[in-house]
Amino acid sequence: MQTWLKIKKMNEPIIYKNQIRNNNFGKNVRIVEPVNIYEITTGDNCFIGPFCEIQKGVVIGNNTKIQSHSFICELVTIGNNCFISHGVMFINDLFQMGKPAGGDASKWKSTQIGNDVSIGTNATILPVSICDNVVIGAGSVVTKNITESGIYVGNPAKKIRNI
Ligand SMILES: CC(C)(COP(=O)(O)OP(=O)(O)OC[C@H]1O[C@@H](n2cnc3c(N)ncnc32)[C@H](O)[C@@H]1OP(=O)(O)O)[C@@H](O)C(=O)NCCC(=O)NCCS
Repeated sequence: MQTWLKIKKMNEPIIYKNQIRNNNFGKNVRIVEPVNIYEITTGDNCFIGPFCEIQKGVVIGNNTKIQSHSFICELVTIGNNCFISHGVMFINDLFQMGKPAGGDASKWKSTQIGNDVSIGTNATILPVSICDNVVIGAGSVVTKNITESGIYVGNPAKKIRNI
């Protein structure tokens, strides 16, 4: 028993606390903890639900809601009046060299989401541009730029109809 306790102590992990730091928030922004949000900019009247991570440099427009469990990585910009549903995952590293680019930000790619875009639960957004007035279905994987308003579903996401 004593030996086990000794080993356990030697292997203490390094714990990084979740934080909300150095952000530039607009007016009337509501956040439900726990979240990890640092060095981002938001407009007014935004909502960010629990268990989200939003990384450095992300820009979120006015009246945009980010629901729980979403991950928004560096180099993502989201417009006004958007709805990012639960568990939406953004990607900036495509593993183009056959492995993660790691900390080499020059290899990461950006994503731009227009205004009035609603992204369904559990969707994955690769580095793309999405124009205004678009709906992405739940569980979809967006692999290419979307330049025409409409409803897109599936993996890879394809347009099924106009709004
Ligand atoms: C994409 C969406 C808006 C489409 O709704 P709709 O226009 O009413 O579409 P329908 O239900 O008539 O489906 C049309 C076709 O698309 C398919 N489809 C619908 N949603 C899909 C999705 N998320 N992924 C893959 N295919 C989908 C349907 O199976 C149907 O296929 P079929 O023509 O072969 O039968 C809706 O299904 C959706 O995914 N909404 C996201 C809601 C969400 O995540 N809310 C979060 C807050 S709770």
